[in-house]
Amino acid sequence: MLRALAERGGCAIVAGSIQSMDRIMSDKPRNFATRTIHAGEQHSVADNAIFPPIYTASSYIKRSLDDNPEYAYSRVGNPTRHAYESCVAALEEGVGAVACASGVNATATVLELLPKDAHVVVMNGVYGGTFRILEDYRSHTSGLTTTYVDLNDLQAVAAAIRPQTQLIWIESPTNPLLHLVDIKAVCDLARARGILTCIDNTFCSPWNQRPITLGVDLVMHSASKYIGGHSDLTGGVVVAANDALLARLRKISMAVGAIQGPFDCYLALRGLKTLDVRMERQCANALQVARFLESHPQIEQVYYPGLESHPQHDLCKRQMRAGGAVVAMKVKGGDRAALNRLVEALQIFVLADSLGGVESMINHSWSMSHNSLSPEQKGEMGIGENLLRLSVGIEDYRDLIEDLDCALRASAAV
Ligand SMILES: Cc1ncc(COP(=O)(O)O)c(C=O)c1O
Repeated sequence: MLRALAERGGCAIVAGSIQSMDRIMSDKPRNFATRTIHAGEQHSVADNAIFPPIYTASSYIKRSLDDNPEYAYSRVGNPTRHAYESCVAALEEGVGAVACASGVNATATVLELLPKDAHVVVMNGVYGGTFRILEDYRSHTSGLTTTYVDLNDLQAVAAAIRPQTQLIWIESPTNPLLHLVDIKAVCDLARARGILTCIDNTFCSPWNQRPITLGVDLVMHSASKYIGGHSDLTGGVVVAANDALLARLRKISMAVGAIQGPFDCYLALRGLKTLDVRMERQCANALQVARFLESHPQIEQVYYPGLESHPQHDLCKRQMRAGGAVVAMKVKGGDRAALNRLVEALQIFVLADSLGGVESMINHSWSMSHNSLSPEQKGEMGIGENLLRLSVGIEDYRDLIEDLDCALRASAAV
């Protein structure tokens, strides 16, 4: 396989050597799908294994008092974690990454970079768990203050900036209404003022959007979603655009210790191997589903940046590869009883809190993902009780459309 790959790339290699794996990546710039399989240091950690082993050891043996091996203690460094971190960093086009216990822990790790009494400008309508860390915890524990604005309104962003502003927190697309942020415009403004930028790139994955190429300093993910891709792990990751930030993140990860365990790093790395094919199918399916819903008489509104009717469709085409695999919809007259009939009639879409897996899922934002917000807060964000979020999987889109069509009929028939 190595020889075949290398020959296609036009370079002669010594079959089977670890160096030859490195050469697949270093001789030429490789396309995304090739990088999902070979990028980073996946192949150099041990004994030619085509996939890195799961290193469960908490500690590593030193040969002498002067021995300073690369791995000494697993909280500080673990070869399985390193293989995963180096691959996800390469896919995001960053210099390195820190794998964390969950997506919210990745957010908390980024916030540890900030000094006491810092101020953060935050995109309106960010994920509820991000809002919770900022408002219920950091405001009390580190005096953090926040201003929420639509980051597309650059005048409002400039007006929100104070001398203590240290970070602009971007989420694009947002959960669940799929508002986009013009990432490059916000980063240009932040850089001119010496303010850090971080984006929650969970909904896109590095397949669909690579914010570091648009000027972002830090990219975070809930790896529990598209990176893992199989609804079988909980994890988070932060990718740094430069060595100084990476060094600070590694120090925080070592000091606080909320690292991703080796089994979950293995699953996440395995998930990355199929990211390209999964995302391609999921985004294509989502577009078909969104088009179907847009023309359905029972649907009040569809939210999907890949539709020409989405108000930010041009921005989507500029900064994303496709419209994504999440579609949100408001059901006409969708009271709780009608929505219950709909979700109970579905046979393929499963009612679940998460998203990003190979299986299609449906979520009632009001009572599930955004349940911790007050009705007023949900109203301000535009989250109505009749809103449903679909995470479109890799099934045949014709079956998905039929499933939704039958369930919508069942919900209307009383
Ligand atoms: C956009 C977004 N960011 C972060 C998170 C938090 O991730 P985790 O559940 O892995 O902690 C989620 C979880 O749903 C999310 O949707």
